Amino acid sequence: MKNIGLFYGSDTGNTEVIAGLIQNRIGSDQVDLFDMYDCRTTDLLKYDHLIIGLSTWHDGQLVSAFDDIEDELKELDFTGKTIALFGLGDQFGYADYFIDGVGIVGEIIQKNGGKIVVNWPIRDYDFENSKADLGNGNFLGLALDEDNQDNMTDERIDEWLPLVLEAFGRT
Ligand SMILES: Cc1cc2nc3c(=O)[nH]c(=O)nc-3n(C[C@H](O)[C@H](O)[C@H](O)COP(=O)(O)O)c2cc1C
Repeated sequence: MKNIGLFYGSDTGNTEVIAGLIQNRIGSDQVDLFDMYDCRTTDLLKYDHLIIGLSTWHDGQLVSAFDDIEDELKELDFTGKTIALFGLGDQFGYADYFIDGVGIVGEIIQKNGGKIVVNWPIRDYDFENSKADLGNGNFLGLALDEDNQDNMTDERIDEWLPLVLEAFGRT
């Protein structure tokens, strides 16, 4: 078993593509990749280091693979786990709910003992409200917007991923 588990939920494939890209950049010998639809919630507990990626749908709802397991997630003990989150959303089309899923899942994880690493600076985004907004100039996790800013995705991941790996190394 590898050191890092990367789990994602994706309804139209955007998050899936990004998850594959992140896996490639880390190196597939270092990270196991799972579509949340194809695994059990308890698979999350097999890893000390987790990267969780998910999109937000329908005015602040979790992407379906995570919506289906929200109650199960609330039963998991994340104590001792270090977790980085990334979220996909549309900041202009859904400005009141931008990447809400990151906030929703992050809150569950933290309530259940998990440590979220690498908050992401809110700069170059234009939105009204987000459950992932910590109120201190940061999102809880990386925010990506393939609908409006796909040209920024590469450099955002380039900046974010080393911080995540560093945080995993130090724990
Ligand atoms: C009907 C619909 C509802 C959406 N609702 C939200 C939302 O509430 N918040 C948000 O940030 N993005 C929202 N989005 C944007 C998606 O999250 C975005 O397109 C994302 O890249 C989809 O990723 P996926 O293909 O991995 O599911 C919505 C998109 C559609 C088409």
